[in-house]
Amino acid sequence: MAMTVKICMVGAGRVGKNHSDAIMGYVPGAQITAMVDPADAVLQATADEYGIEARFNSLEQALDRADFDAVVITTPTFTHRELALQAAAAGKHVFLEKPMAMNLEECDAIIEGTRKAGVHLQLGFMRRFEPEFAAAAERIAAGEIGDPMMVKSNTHGPGLPPAWARDLRTSNGMLAEVNSHDWDCVRWLMGSDLNRVYTEIADFKGKENNVDTPHFYDNVLVNIRFESGGIGIISGICPCGYGYDARTEIVGTKGIMQIGELKGQDILVCTNRDQGLVIPIQRRWQERFKQGYIGEFHHFVECIQKDQTPKVGGAEGRMAVAGVLAGTRSFLEERPVYMKEILEGK
Ligand SMILES: NC(=O)c1ccc[n+]([C@@H]2O[C@H](COP(=O)([O-])OP(=O)(O)OC[C@H]3O[C@@H](n4cnc5c(N)ncnc54)[C@H](O)[C@@H]3O)[C@@H](O)[C@H]2O)c1
Repeated sequence: MAMTVKICMVGAGRVGKNHSDAIMGYVPGAQITAMVDPADAVLQATADEYGIEARFNSLEQALDRADFDAVVITTPTFTHRELALQAAAAGKHVFLEKPMAMNLEECDAIIEGTRKAGVHLQLGFMRRFEPEFAAAAERIAAGEIGDPMMVKSNTHGPGLPPAWARDLRTSNGMLAEVNSHDWDCVRWLMGSDLNRVYTEIADFKGKENNVDTPHFYDNVLVNIRFESGGIGIISGICPCGYGYDARTEIVGTKGIMQIGELKGQDILVCTNRDQGLVIPIQRRWQERFKQGYIGEFHHFVECIQKDQTPKVGGAEGRMAVAGVLAGTRSFLEERPVYMKEILEGK
């Protein structure tokens, strides 16, 4: 029988809780044996909810005192490099949430640190494990819609992200926090790297939400030219108010493929004629991508048990960060930005 993979959850916030739910509820090959968060109230609440006894305020303490094979890092972006390197140096496999890091130097350090330590590195791109995204990617690669010509990928979220996540200095802002998945998916589904991007941003709700971080935006639209000659857009809105909306459309030379829908449940309700028909919408990312979160941890655990390389790792994380940096430079400098400016450090 395969060994049970023992996991230390690093970060007990929104995603730490979401991933604890996926692992403890649906991944029999894994067990969370320790949890880390410097915010004690958050740590106690999440650890209580999932019955995790070994609780620490730093990864260092957990490495000293607890028994585990891997870490799942669900902390703010600016902490990713240090935590991933610390875990790798101690011989722990690393599952790292997106965005991989703040810049390409940090991504390279994580790739090199995990490689040197001989541990696996998987990035938290759960859409790759969400059944309809995975099926679409396979069918596009098999040529079902011909050569991909155009992609439209949107992620619109209902609420304002935490303060660190909307600040360019600690997260690279919404293009990173909300649209990391789009940067990864458009490359994956189009089967091509990006060549050039041009970004427009807008701020409609910052004032009413008392946001005073420089360059804050709550709407973003990126135009993309791919190396293949294809074109595309990424759109982000947060907070959009109406629910959680992640939909992608790819048009090929022979046909079209649409992934996802606004509708959240297969139910229509009508209780009075003034209200009309009510169709429930997707409300939260935790529900929208539940299968993807479970799938990504099944994969991570299997890769550790069978000593196989995860199918989404540092290279993909690094390219998504490069997209974020190009997209951000584009709106700051009000011009199209070539990916090679970022990738070649110009
Ligand atoms: N895959 C997804 O769908 C998805 C969704 C939302 C967020 N994220 C990503 O997950 C990560 C966390 O986001 P979140 O929304 O949970 O943030 P959050 O602010 O809700 O939680 C982060 C937690 O990390 C803790 N923390 C900070 N420094 C730490 C350290 N050194 N060691 C241990 N814990 C530390 C904080 O105290 C906090 O409780 C980010 O990288 C974010 O971009 C991914």
